[in-house]
Amino acid sequence: MNIEELNKIAHAMVAPGRGILAMDESHPTCNKRFEKLGIPTTEPMRQAYRDMLVTAPGLSDYVSGAILFDETIRQKTLDGAPFADHLSNLGIIPGIKVDGGAKPLAGSENEKVTHGLDGLAERCAEYYEMGARFSKWRAVITIGEGLPSWACIEANAHALARYARISQEAGLVPIVEPEVLMDGDHSIARCYDVTELTQRVVFYQLKNQGVALEGIVLKPSMVISGSSDSARADVKTVAEQTVRCLQNTVPAAVPGIAFLSGGQTDQEASQHLNAINLSERTRPWALTFSYGRALQQTAMQVWKGDSANVEKAQQALLWRARCNGSAALGKYSDAMEKQAV
Ligand code: 13P
Repeated sequence: MNIEELNKIAHAMVAPGRGILAMDESHPTCNKRFEKLGIPTTEPMRQAYRDMLVTAPGLSDYVSGAILFDETIRQKTLDGAPFADHLSNLGIIPGIKVDGGAKPLAGSENEKVTHGLDGLAERCAEYYEMGARFSKWRAVITIGEGLPSWACIEANAHALARYARISQEAGLVPIVEPEVLMDGDHSIARCYDVTELTQRVVFYQLKNQGVALEGIVLKPSMVISGSSDSARADVKTVAEQTVRCLQNTVPAAVPGIAFLSGGQTDQEASQHLNAINLSERTRPWALTFSYGRALQQTAMQVWKGDSANVEKAQQALLWRARCNGSAALGKYSDAMEKQAV
């Protein structure tokens, strides 16, 4: 593996004031969101939607990379350019989701393990040929009564590490995404404990598989109260506990950390990232966003599957990208939010 090259790509993915647009929803997830808005769940609609996202003027000012789904990397924009080429030409690094989704973990009710290692080396080689320079694999950890189980944490961490090594061998920077789900009424302290343990086990497994830490981007969830906790922690506490957790688990060799939004509102996701970047704690890594919903949800609601709404939807996307780009520099504010176009 070429560690120098991987390191260069990883740094570019987390360049100052820029972050990653996660637009790699699988068919079931994308269709679910379309259905809610009455958008037909067809291939041409998914193509038109993703075309709207990547042709937003000025996107590359705030977006360093975009994660595509298998269908999209094989499609063309409405202007006829392969999506990966279109992104590269804009200076946005094309990436690809390579996991096969989270499936029930045998023997543990309510927990999941991510599938997709079979044939992964071949798929990575093909994606590299198509222009991808990074990959993504998402593992989910559920907090609940007696959960997560050790079996779930270990199986997911092992798969993440196997994926990361395979990806690096193919020249793709792996985004390593162990997501601790926000669902539930657990406290932020419980989220801290589960996130710290999960990340520790992930880095132990990365070591076992010989993954070069200089050539990965970590995509964690923030340390945050459960979505139905009655006493949810404030923005500053989320930021402090998140950075504290990273300090305890992530070696300084890792170039960058790009958070998922995980069901936070648009504004929460920006506020938290901003506060994280204002933390007085030592932060040897770049800290930015790799948001899906917190970048796209407003834009999708505005678009509604109608080409007449493209310009307005692009403005909505660009606004969230700009807010999060500012938050990655610690320069976002609630006052900025009021200037929304
Ligand atoms: P959200 O920001 O919507 O959580 O999505 C990010 C992502 O890529 C999940 O894998």
